Amino acid sequence: MHAGGSVVALQCSLESFHSGRTILFLIEIVPFRVTGGHGMGVNIVVLGVQWGDEGKGKIVDLLTGRAGVVVRFQGGHNAGHTLVVNGHKTVLHLLPSGILRQKVRCFIGNGVVVSPQALLDEIGKMGETVADIPLRLKISAACPVILHYHQLLDQLREQARGANAIGTTGRGIGPAYEDKAARRGVRLGDLLNESTCTMRVEEAASYQNLVLQKIYGAQPVDIPRLVDECLAYGQQLGPMIADVGREIRECMAQGESILFEGAQGALLDIDHGTYPFVTSSNTTAGAAASGSGIGPMQIDGVLGIVKAYTTRVGSGPFPTELIDDVGKKLARDGRELGSTTGRPRRCGWFDAVTARWACQVNGISSLCVTKLDVLDGLPEIRICIGYRIDGKERTDPPIQTELLTRCDPIYETLPGWLESTSGIQQMAMLPQAARDYLARLEVLTDCPIGIVSTGPDRSDTIVLDNPFG
Ligand code: GDP
Ligand code: IMO
Ligand code: MG
Repeated sequence: MHAGGSVVALQCSLESFHSGRTILFLIEIVPFRVTGGHGMGVNIVVLGVQWGDEGKGKIVDLLTGRAGVVVRFQGGHNAGHTLVVNGHKTVLHLLPSGILRQKVRCFIGNGVVVSPQALLDEIGKMGETVADIPLRLKISAACPVILHYHQLLDQLREQARGANAIGTTGRGIGPAYEDKAARRGVRLGDLLNESTCTMRVEEAASYQNLVLQKIYGAQPVDIPRLVDECLAYGQQLGPMIADVGREIRECMAQGESILFEGAQGALLDIDHGTYPFVTSSNTTAGAAASGSGIGPMQIDGVLGIVKAYTTRVGSGPFPTELIDDVGKKLARDGRELGSTTGRPRRCGWFDAVTARWACQVNGISSLCVTKLDVLDGLPEIRICIGYRIDGKERTDPPIQTELLTRCDPIYETLPGWLESTSGIQQMAMLPQAARDYLARLEVLTDCPIGIVSTGPDRSDTIVLDNPFG
Protein backbone atom coordinates (compact mmCIF):
# COMPACT_ATOMS: atom_id res chain seq x y z
CA MET A 1 0.00 0.00 0.00
CA HIS A 2 2.98 2.35 0.15
CA ALA A 3 3.99 4.56 -2.74
CA GLY A 4 7.56 4.52 -4.03
CA GLY A 5 10.22 1.77 -4.17
CA SER A 6 10.30 -1.09 -6.64
CA VAL A 7 10.04 -4.86 -6.74
CA VAL A 8 11.55 -7.34 -9.18
CA ALA A 9 9.26 -10.01 -10.60
CA LEU A 10 10.81 -13.25 -11.84
CA GLN A 11 8.84 -15.25 -14.36
CA CYS A 12 9.55 -18.79 -15.63
CA SER A 13 7.30 -21.58 -16.80
CA LEU A 14 7.01 -24.68 -14.65
CA GLU A 15 7.46 -26.80 -17.78
CA SER A 16 10.92 -25.41 -18.55
CA PHE A 17 11.83 -25.67 -14.87
CA HIS A 18 11.20 -29.44 -14.86
CA SER A 19 12.74 -30.11 -18.31
CA GLY A 20 16.28 -29.42 -17.18
CA ARG A 21 16.74 -27.01 -20.06
CA THR A 22 18.25 -23.56 -19.64
CA ILE A 23 15.71 -21.31 -18.05
CA LEU A 24 15.15 -17.80 -19.26
CA PHE A 25 14.18 -15.51 -16.40
CA LEU A 26 12.20 -12.55 -17.58
CA ILE A 27 12.97 -9.77 -15.17
CA GLU A 28 10.41 -7.04 -15.01
CA ILE A 29 10.83 -3.94 -12.87
CA VAL A 30 7.42 -2.81 -11.69
CA PRO A 31 6.52 0.05 -9.34
CA PHE A 32 6.21 -1.02 -5.70
CA ARG A 33 2.95 0.80 -5.24
CA VAL A 34 -0.09 -1.51 -5.28
CA THR A 35 -2.62 0.53 -7.22
CA GLY A 36 -5.67 -1.68 -6.75
CA GLY A 37 -6.59 -0.85 -10.33
CA HIS A 38 -7.26 2.86 -9.86
CA GLY A 39 -5.86 5.70 -11.97
CA MET A 40 -2.71 7.71 -11.28
CA GLY A 41 -4.10 9.79 -8.41
CA VAL A 42 -3.15 9.16 -4.80
CA ASN A 43 -5.82 8.25 -2.26
CA ILE A 44 -5.06 9.16 1.36
CA VAL A 45 -7.11 8.73 4.53
CA VAL A 46 -6.62 11.48 7.13
CA LEU A 47 -7.85 10.58 10.59
CA GLY A 48 -7.53 11.32 14.29
CA VAL A 49 -5.20 9.21 16.43
CA GLN A 50 -6.57 10.22 19.86
CA TRP A 51 -10.06 11.24 21.14
CA GLY A 52 -10.82 13.72 18.35
CA ASP A 53 -10.04 17.43 17.84
CA GLU A 54 -6.44 16.70 16.82
CA GLY A 55 -6.56 19.38 14.11
CA LYS A 56 -7.85 17.22 11.23
CA GLY A 57 -9.75 20.13 9.64
CA LYS A 58 -6.64 22.31 9.43
CA ILE A 59 -4.57 19.56 7.84
CA VAL A 60 -7.28 18.45 5.40
CA ASP A 61 -7.67 22.06 4.26
CA LEU A 62 -3.90 22.36 3.85
CA LEU A 63 -3.56 19.12 1.87
CA THR A 64 -6.44 19.89 -0.48
CA GLY A 65 -4.01 22.26 -2.15
CA ARG A 66 -2.89 19.05 -3.86
CA ALA A 67 -6.04 16.87 -3.86
CA GLY A 68 -9.02 17.51 -6.12
CA VAL A 69 -11.60 15.63 -4.04
CA VAL A 70 -12.46 15.34 -0.32
CA VAL A 71 -14.78 12.68 1.09
CA ARG A 72 -16.34 12.50 4.57
CA PHE A 73 -17.04 8.84 5.33
CA GLN A 74 -18.37 8.52 8.92
CA GLY A 75 -19.76 10.51 11.83
CA GLY A 76 -22.09 13.43 11.41
CA HIS A 77 -22.47 16.96 12.74
CA ASN A 78 -20.94 15.84 16.04
CA ALA A 79 -17.66 16.76 14.30
CA GLY A 80 -16.27 20.28 14.54
CA HIS A 81 -13.34 20.89 12.20
CA THR A 82 -11.62 24.26 12.42
CA LEU A 83 -9.88 25.91 9.46
CA VAL A 84 -7.96 29.16 9.77
CA VAL A 85 -6.88 30.83 6.54
CA ASN A 86 -5.11 34.20 6.71
CA GLY A 87 -6.49 34.69 10.20
CA HIS A 88 -10.10 33.97 9.17
CA LYS A 89 -11.65 31.10 11.15
CA THR A 90 -14.26 28.65 9.83
CA VAL A 91 -15.74 25.72 11.77
CA LEU A 92 -17.22 22.91 9.68
CA HIS A 93 -19.46 20.14 11.00
CA LEU A 94 -20.76 18.19 8.00
CA LEU A 95 -19.19 19.91 5.03
CA PRO A 96 -15.86 18.33 4.05
CA SER A 97 -12.84 20.51 4.87
CA GLY A 98 -12.00 20.98 1.18
CA ILE A 99 -14.97 23.30 0.76
CA LEU A 100 -12.91 26.50 1.05
CA ARG A 101 -10.92 25.65 -2.09
CA GLN A 102 -12.91 26.61 -5.16
CA LYS A 103 -11.69 23.77 -7.36
CA VAL A 104 -12.15 20.95 -4.84
CA ARG A 105 -15.11 18.59 -5.21
CA CYS A 106 -16.66 17.48 -1.93
CA PHE A 107 -18.54 14.27 -1.14
CA ILE A 108 -20.47 13.06 1.88
CA GLY A 109 -20.32 9.27 1.73
CA ASN A 110 -22.89 6.67 2.80
CA GLY A 111 -21.17 6.14 6.19
CA VAL A 112 -22.11 9.65 7.37
CA VAL A 113 -25.37 10.24 9.29
CA VAL A 114 -26.90 13.44 7.92
CA SER A 115 -29.19 15.88 9.66
CA PRO A 116 -30.84 17.63 6.68
CA GLN A 117 -31.57 20.68 8.81
CA ALA A 118 -27.97 20.95 10.07
CA LEU A 119 -26.63 20.47 6.55
CA LEU A 120 -28.94 23.09 5.03
CA ASP A 121 -28.03 25.55 7.79
CA GLU A 122 -24.31 24.95 7.20
CA ILE A 123 -24.60 25.28 3.42
CA GLY A 124 -26.60 28.50 3.91
CA LYS A 125 -24.04 29.95 6.31
CA MET A 126 -20.98 28.94 4.28
CA GLY A 127 -22.67 30.01 1.05
CA GLU A 128 -22.38 33.63 2.18
CA THR A 129 -18.61 33.51 1.61
CA VAL A 130 -17.90 30.37 -0.45
CA ALA A 131 -19.11 30.06 -4.04
CA ASP A 132 -20.72 27.11 -5.81
CA ILE A 133 -21.30 24.81 -2.82
CA PRO A 134 -24.40 23.13 -4.34
CA LEU A 135 -22.40 22.49 -7.53
CA ARG A 136 -19.31 21.10 -5.79
CA LEU A 137 -21.03 19.01 -3.11
CA LYS A 138 -22.65 15.59 -3.55
CA ILE A 139 -24.27 13.63 -0.73
CA SER A 140 -24.92 9.90 -0.86
CA ALA A 141 -28.55 8.79 -1.26
CA ALA A 142 -27.62 6.01 1.17
CA CYS A 143 -26.81 8.34 4.09
CA PRO A 144 -29.02 7.62 7.12
CA VAL A 145 -31.05 10.70 8.04
CA ILE A 146 -30.96 12.27 11.52
CA LEU A 147 -34.39 13.59 12.41
CA HIS A 148 -35.53 15.66 15.35
CA TYR A 149 -36.50 12.61 17.42
CA HIS A 150 -32.97 11.18 17.19
CA GLN A 151 -31.65 14.27 18.88
CA LEU A 152 -34.42 14.12 21.48
CA LEU A 153 -33.66 10.44 22.19
CA ASP A 154 -29.92 11.16 22.47
CA GLN A 155 -30.58 13.79 25.11
CA LEU A 156 -33.20 11.74 27.01
CA ARG A 157 -30.83 8.74 27.15
CA GLU A 158 -28.00 10.86 28.45
CA GLN A 159 -30.27 12.22 31.18
CA ALA A 160 -31.37 8.70 32.07
CA ARG A 161 -27.76 7.53 32.39
CA GLY A 162 -27.17 10.15 35.09
CA ALA A 163 -23.65 9.84 36.49
CA ASN A 164 -22.78 7.30 33.77
CA ALA A 165 -23.62 9.68 30.91
CA ILE A 166 -21.29 9.35 27.92
CA GLY A 167 -21.18 13.09 27.39
CA THR A 168 -22.39 12.89 23.80
CA THR A 169 -22.66 15.97 21.64
CA GLY A 170 -26.46 15.56 21.87
CA ARG A 171 -26.80 15.68 18.09
CA GLY A 172 -28.70 12.38 17.68
CA ILE A 173 -25.71 10.51 16.24
CA GLY A 174 -26.10 7.31 18.31
CA PRO A 175 -29.87 6.87 17.78
CA ALA A 176 -29.50 7.47 14.02
CA TYR A 177 -26.82 4.76 13.70
CA GLU A 178 -29.04 2.47 15.81
CA ASP A 179 -31.92 2.93 13.36
CA LYS A 180 -29.53 2.17 10.49
CA ALA A 181 -28.37 -1.09 12.12
CA ALA A 182 -31.95 -2.02 13.00
CA ARG A 183 -32.86 -1.53 9.32
CA ARG A 184 -35.68 0.87 10.09
CA GLY A 185 -33.76 4.07 9.28
CA VAL A 186 -34.79 6.67 6.73
CA ARG A 187 -32.13 7.34 4.08
CA LEU A 188 -31.56 10.57 2.16
CA GLY A 189 -32.64 8.99 -1.13
CA ASP A 190 -36.00 8.08 0.46
CA LEU A 191 -36.80 11.79 0.78
CA LEU A 192 -37.00 12.14 -3.00
CA ASN A 193 -40.10 10.01 -3.48
CA GLU A 194 -43.38 10.86 -1.73
CA SER A 195 -44.71 7.35 -1.21
CA THR A 196 -41.34 5.88 -0.16
CA CYS A 197 -40.74 8.80 2.18
CA THR A 198 -44.18 8.47 3.78
CA MET A 199 -43.75 4.73 4.27
CA ARG A 200 -40.22 4.92 5.67
CA VAL A 201 -40.88 7.85 8.00
CA GLU A 202 -44.12 6.27 9.29
CA GLU A 203 -42.35 3.00 10.06
CA ALA A 204 -39.38 4.59 11.80
CA ALA A 205 -41.29 7.27 13.69
CA SER A 206 -44.06 4.92 14.88
CA TYR A 207 -41.44 2.74 16.54
CA GLN A 208 -39.63 5.68 18.12
CA ASN A 209 -42.92 7.22 19.29
CA LEU A 210 -43.47 4.09 21.37
CA VAL A 211 -39.99 4.48 22.85
CA LEU A 212 -40.51 8.19 23.52
CA GLN A 213 -43.85 7.64 25.24
CA LYS A 214 -43.45 4.31 27.03
CA ILE A 215 -39.82 4.54 28.13
CA TYR A 216 -39.26 8.26 28.58
CA GLY A 217 -42.81 9.56 29.10
CA ALA A 218 -42.10 12.14 26.39
CA GLN A 219 -44.39 13.64 23.75
CA PRO A 220 -44.68 11.62 20.50
CA VAL A 221 -43.62 13.20 17.21
CA ASP A 222 -46.34 14.40 14.83
CA ILE A 223 -45.79 11.93 11.99
CA PRO A 224 -47.73 13.65 9.14
CA ARG A 225 -45.88 16.87 9.91
CA LEU A 226 -42.55 15.02 9.93
CA VAL A 227 -43.34 13.49 6.52
CA ASP A 228 -44.00 16.99 5.12
CA GLU A 229 -40.75 18.26 6.61
CA CYS A 230 -38.83 15.35 5.10
CA LEU A 231 -40.33 15.93 1.65
CA ALA A 232 -39.33 19.59 1.88
CA TYR A 233 -35.77 18.54 2.82
CA GLY A 234 -35.76 16.20 -0.18
CA GLN A 235 -36.71 19.06 -2.50
CA GLN A 236 -34.01 21.34 -1.15
CA LEU A 237 -31.22 18.77 -1.06
CA GLY A 238 -32.38 16.82 -4.14
CA PRO A 239 -29.91 18.33 -6.65
CA MET A 240 -27.01 17.34 -4.38
CA ILE A 241 -28.17 13.78 -3.62
CA ALA A 242 -26.30 11.25 -5.76
CA ASP A 243 -24.72 7.82 -6.06
CA VAL A 244 -21.58 9.08 -4.33
CA GLY A 245 -19.73 5.75 -4.44
CA ARG A 246 -20.00 5.70 -8.21
CA GLU A 247 -18.89 9.32 -8.53
CA ILE A 248 -15.83 8.70 -6.32
CA ARG A 249 -14.89 5.65 -8.39
CA GLU A 250 -15.22 7.77 -11.54
CA CYS A 251 -12.93 10.42 -10.02
CA MET A 252 -10.39 7.67 -9.32
CA ALA A 253 -10.60 6.37 -12.85
CA GLN A 254 -9.93 9.91 -14.09
CA GLY A 255 -6.75 10.04 -12.01
CA GLU A 256 -7.96 12.51 -9.37
CA SER A 257 -6.19 12.46 -5.99
CA ILE A 258 -8.70 11.89 -3.21
CA LEU A 259 -8.55 12.72 0.48
CA PHE A 260 -10.80 10.76 2.85
CA GLU A 261 -11.48 12.97 5.87
CA GLY A 262 -12.08 11.18 9.15
CA ALA A 263 -14.08 12.61 12.02
CA GLN A 264 -13.54 11.96 15.75
CA GLY A 265 -10.49 9.78 16.56
CA ALA A 266 -9.33 6.16 16.91
CA LEU A 267 -10.07 6.02 20.64
CA LEU A 268 -13.70 6.97 19.95
CA ASP A 269 -14.16 4.06 17.50
CA ILE A 270 -17.28 2.01 18.31
CA ASP A 271 -15.31 -1.28 18.17
CA HIS A 272 -11.74 -0.37 19.05
CA GLY A 273 -12.23 2.67 21.29
CA THR A 274 -12.91 3.13 25.00
CA TYR A 275 -16.37 1.53 24.83
CA PRO A 276 -19.00 2.59 25.87
CA PHE A 277 -17.43 6.06 26.02
CA VAL A 278 -17.16 6.24 22.24
CA THR A 279 -19.10 7.55 19.29
CA SER A 280 -21.41 5.25 17.30
CA SER A 281 -19.36 4.78 14.13
CA ASN A 282 -16.07 3.21 13.10
CA THR A 283 -13.61 6.07 13.11
CA THR A 284 -10.67 3.90 12.04
CA ALA A 285 -9.18 3.64 8.55
CA GLY A 286 -11.23 0.68 7.30
CA ALA A 287 -14.36 2.84 7.47
CA ALA A 288 -13.01 5.04 4.66
CA ALA A 289 -13.71 2.21 2.21
CA SER A 290 -17.05 0.99 3.56
CA GLY A 291 -18.27 4.51 4.26
CA SER A 292 -17.67 5.81 0.76
CA GLY A 293 -17.98 2.87 -1.64
CA ILE A 294 -14.41 2.01 -2.64
CA GLY A 295 -12.20 -1.01 -2.02
CA PRO A 296 -9.54 -1.05 0.71
CA MET A 297 -6.77 -1.73 -1.85
CA GLN A 298 -7.54 1.64 -3.42
CA ILE A 299 -6.19 3.44 -0.36
CA ASP A 300 -2.53 4.39 -0.78
CA GLY A 301 -1.74 5.71 2.66
CA VAL A 302 -3.11 6.78 6.03
CA LEU A 303 -2.05 10.04 7.65
CA GLY A 304 -2.67 10.06 11.40
CA ILE A 305 -3.22 13.44 13.07
CA VAL A 306 -2.04 13.58 16.65
CA LYS A 307 -1.72 16.45 19.11
CA ALA A 308 1.64 16.98 20.79
CA TYR A 309 -0.31 16.30 24.01
CA THR A 310 -3.73 14.68 24.56
CA THR A 311 -7.27 15.99 24.96
CA ARG A 312 -10.69 14.46 25.41
CA VAL A 313 -14.25 15.90 25.55
CA GLY A 314 -16.97 13.98 27.38
CA SER A 315 -16.66 11.14 29.87
CA GLY A 316 -14.47 8.05 29.92
CA PRO A 317 -10.99 6.96 30.95
CA PHE A 318 -8.01 9.19 30.18
CA PRO A 319 -4.85 7.82 31.85
CA THR A 320 -2.61 10.86 31.26
CA GLU A 321 -5.19 13.49 32.24
CA LEU A 322 -3.77 16.45 34.19
CA ILE A 323 -5.89 18.36 36.65
CA ASP A 324 -2.96 20.51 37.80
CA ASP A 325 -1.49 23.79 36.54
CA VAL A 326 0.11 22.11 33.52
CA GLY A 327 -3.33 20.80 32.46
CA LYS A 328 -4.69 24.34 32.85
CA LYS A 329 -1.82 25.77 30.79
CA LEU A 330 -2.50 23.29 27.96
CA ALA A 331 -6.22 24.14 28.04
CA ARG A 332 -5.50 27.89 28.06
CA ASP A 333 -2.72 28.05 25.46
CA GLY A 334 -4.36 25.38 23.28
CA ARG A 335 -7.76 27.13 23.56
CA GLU A 336 -9.19 23.74 24.34
CA LEU A 337 -12.92 24.36 24.07
CA GLY A 338 -15.03 21.97 21.96
CA SER A 339 -15.66 23.25 18.40
CA THR A 340 -19.17 21.76 18.38
CA THR A 341 -20.47 22.07 21.93
CA GLY A 342 -18.11 24.64 23.45
CA ARG A 343 -17.40 22.29 26.36
CA PRO A 344 -13.94 22.48 28.00
CA ARG A 345 -11.66 19.70 26.77
CA ARG A 346 -9.81 17.63 29.34
CA CYS A 347 -6.03 17.87 28.79
CA GLY A 348 -3.05 15.64 29.53
CA TRP A 349 0.41 14.49 28.47
CA PHE A 350 1.08 12.68 25.20
CA ASP A 351 0.17 9.01 25.53
CA ALA A 352 2.57 7.00 23.38
CA VAL A 353 0.86 3.74 24.42
CA THR A 354 -2.46 4.57 22.75
CA ALA A 355 -0.76 6.48 19.91
CA ARG A 356 1.37 3.47 18.92
CA TRP A 357 -1.71 1.23 19.19
CA ALA A 358 -3.67 3.64 16.95
CA CYS A 359 -0.87 3.57 14.36
CA GLN A 360 -1.19 -0.20 14.24
CA VAL A 361 -5.01 -0.39 14.22
CA ASN A 362 -5.20 2.11 11.36
CA GLY A 363 -2.11 1.04 9.43
CA ILE A 364 -0.90 4.64 9.69
CA SER A 365 1.88 5.38 7.20
CA SER A 366 2.88 8.77 8.62
CA LEU A 367 1.95 11.14 11.41
CA CYS A 368 1.18 14.83 11.57
CA VAL A 369 1.90 16.28 15.03
CA THR A 370 -0.22 19.35 15.75
CA LYS A 371 -0.18 22.06 18.42
CA LEU A 372 3.55 21.74 19.13
CA ASP A 373 3.50 25.47 19.97
CA VAL A 374 1.18 24.82 22.92
CA LEU A 375 4.07 23.08 24.73
CA ASP A 376 6.23 26.25 24.46
CA GLY A 377 7.41 27.49 27.84
CA LEU A 378 7.22 24.20 29.73
CA PRO A 379 10.52 23.48 31.51
CA GLU A 380 9.98 19.75 31.10
CA ILE A 381 7.61 17.57 29.13
CA ARG A 382 6.38 14.09 29.94
CA ILE A 383 5.45 11.25 27.64
CA CYS A 384 3.53 8.20 28.81
CA ILE A 385 5.53 5.16 27.68
CA GLY A 386 3.66 2.41 29.53
CA TYR A 387 0.94 1.63 32.07
CA ARG A 388 1.09 0.05 35.48
CA ILE A 389 -1.97 -1.94 36.46
CA ASP A 390 -2.34 -4.16 39.51
CA GLY A 391 1.43 -3.97 40.01
CA LYS A 392 2.22 -5.14 36.46
CA GLU A 393 3.68 -3.04 33.65
CA ARG A 394 2.44 -3.14 30.06
CA THR A 395 3.14 -1.20 26.87
CA ASP A 396 -0.16 -1.81 25.06
CA PRO A 397 -3.59 -0.52 26.08
CA PRO A 398 -5.98 -3.06 27.64
CA ILE A 399 -9.05 -3.79 25.54
CA GLN A 400 -11.36 -3.71 28.58
CA THR A 401 -12.22 -0.11 29.38
CA GLU A 402 -12.60 -0.94 33.05
CA LEU A 403 -8.91 -1.93 33.14
CA LEU A 404 -7.91 1.28 31.36
CA THR A 405 -9.59 3.32 34.11
CA ARG A 406 -7.24 1.64 36.60
CA CYS A 407 -4.03 2.15 34.60
CA ASP A 408 -1.36 4.40 36.10
CA PRO A 409 0.83 6.01 33.44
CA ILE A 410 4.58 5.40 33.45
CA TYR A 411 6.31 8.58 32.30
CA GLU A 412 9.56 9.49 30.64
CA THR A 413 10.61 13.12 31.12
CA LEU A 414 12.24 15.22 28.41
CA PRO A 415 13.58 18.78 28.62
CA GLY A 416 11.16 21.40 27.36
CA TRP A 417 11.95 24.63 25.53
CA LEU A 418 11.30 28.23 26.48
CA GLU A 419 11.46 29.74 22.97
CA SER A 420 8.32 30.28 20.87
CA THR A 421 7.68 27.79 18.07
CA SER A 422 4.50 29.57 17.01
CA GLY A 423 4.17 29.81 13.22
CA ILE A 424 7.53 28.16 12.45
CA GLN A 425 7.55 26.64 8.95
CA GLN A 426 10.94 24.88 8.88
CA MET A 427 12.21 22.04 11.00
CA ALA A 428 15.64 23.64 11.28
CA MET A 429 14.09 26.69 12.97
CA LEU A 430 12.65 24.67 15.85
CA PRO A 431 14.55 24.64 19.17
CA GLN A 432 16.71 21.52 19.54
CA ALA A 433 14.57 20.31 22.47
CA ALA A 434 11.44 20.46 20.30
CA ARG A 435 13.18 18.46 17.57
CA ASP A 436 14.31 15.93 20.17
CA TYR A 437 10.73 15.66 21.45
CA LEU A 438 9.42 14.95 17.93
CA ALA A 439 12.20 12.43 17.30
CA ARG A 440 11.25 10.63 20.51
CA LEU A 441 7.58 10.50 19.45
CA GLU A 442 8.63 8.88 16.17
CA VAL A 443 10.55 6.18 18.03
CA LEU A 444 7.80 5.54 20.59
CA THR A 445 4.97 5.39 18.03
CA ASP A 446 7.15 3.52 15.54
CA CYS A 447 5.89 5.86 12.83
CA PRO A 448 7.56 8.65 10.84
CA ILE A 449 6.39 12.25 11.28
CA GLY A 450 5.67 13.90 7.92
CA ILE A 451 4.01 17.14 9.05
CA VAL A 452 4.29 19.35 12.15
CA SER A 453 1.78 22.06 12.95
CA THR A 454 2.90 25.12 14.90
CA GLY A 455 -0.25 27.25 14.91
CA PRO A 456 -3.90 27.25 13.82
CA ASP A 457 -3.35 28.98 10.47
CA ARG A 458 -2.97 27.01 7.25
CA SER A 459 0.49 28.54 6.87
CA ASP A 460 1.72 27.63 10.40
CA THR A 461 3.00 24.28 9.20
CA ILE A 462 6.24 22.35 8.61
CA VAL A 463 5.71 19.94 5.72
CA LEU A 464 8.49 17.35 5.51
CA ASP A 465 6.55 14.83 3.47
CA ASN A 466 3.27 15.68 1.73
CA PRO A 467 1.35 12.42 1.19
CA PHE A 468 0.09 13.80 -2.13
CA GLY A 469 3.68 14.32 -3.30
P1 GDP B 1 -10.50 18.62 14.45
O1 GDP B 1 -11.84 18.25 14.99
O2 GDP B 1 -9.54 17.47 14.50
O3 GDP B 1 -10.55 19.24 13.09
O4 GDP B 1 -9.90 19.71 15.45
P2 GDP B 1 -10.69 21.00 16.04
O5 GDP B 1 -10.83 21.99 14.96
O6 GDP B 1 -11.92 20.58 16.75
O7 GDP B 1 -9.68 21.44 17.16
C1 GDP B 1 -8.37 21.81 16.88
C2 GDP B 1 -8.14 23.24 17.38
O8 GDP B 1 -6.75 23.51 17.41
C3 GDP B 1 -8.74 24.28 16.46
O9 GDP B 1 -9.12 25.39 17.24
C4 GDP B 1 -7.58 24.65 15.56
O10 GDP B 1 -7.70 25.97 15.01
C5 GDP B 1 -6.44 24.57 16.50
N1 GDP B 1 -5.15 24.18 15.92
C6 GDP B 1 -4.89 23.28 14.93
N2 GDP B 1 -3.56 23.13 14.76
C7 GDP B 1 -2.97 23.93 15.67
C8 GDP B 1 -1.61 24.19 16.04
O11 GDP B 1 -0.67 23.62 15.49
N3 GDP B 1 -1.41 25.08 17.04
C9 GDP B 1 -2.42 25.71 17.69
N4 GDP B 1 -2.12 26.56 18.66
N5 GDP B 1 -3.71 25.49 17.37
C10 GDP B 1 -3.98 24.60 16.39
P1 IMO C 1 -14.11 15.85 15.72
O1 IMO C 1 -14.39 15.30 14.36
C1 IMO C 1 -14.12 15.17 20.02
C2 IMO C 1 -17.28 12.56 21.59
C3 IMO C 1 -18.30 13.19 22.50
C4 IMO C 1 -18.63 12.00 23.37
C5 IMO C 1 -18.57 10.82 22.43
C6 IMO C 1 -19.93 10.39 21.86
O2 IMO C 1 -14.31 17.31 15.84
O3 IMO C 1 -12.80 15.37 16.23
P2 IMO C 1 -21.57 11.42 20.02
O4 IMO C 1 -22.27 12.74 19.97
O5 IMO C 1 -20.67 11.16 18.88
O6 IMO C 1 -22.51 10.27 20.29
O7 IMO C 1 -20.63 11.52 21.35
O8 IMO C 1 -17.74 11.25 21.34
N1 IMO C 1 -17.12 13.23 20.27
C7 IMO C 1 -16.08 13.98 19.94
N2 IMO C 1 -15.02 14.40 20.67
N3 IMO C 1 -14.20 15.49 18.71
C8 IMO C 1 -15.24 15.05 17.96
O9 IMO C 1 -15.29 15.23 16.64
C9 IMO C 1 -16.26 14.30 18.58
N4 IMO C 1 -17.42 13.75 18.15
C10 IMO C 1 -17.92 13.08 19.18
O10 IMO C 1 -17.76 14.27 23.22
O11 IMO C 1 -17.62 11.83 24.33
MG1 MG D 1 -13.18 18.90 16.43
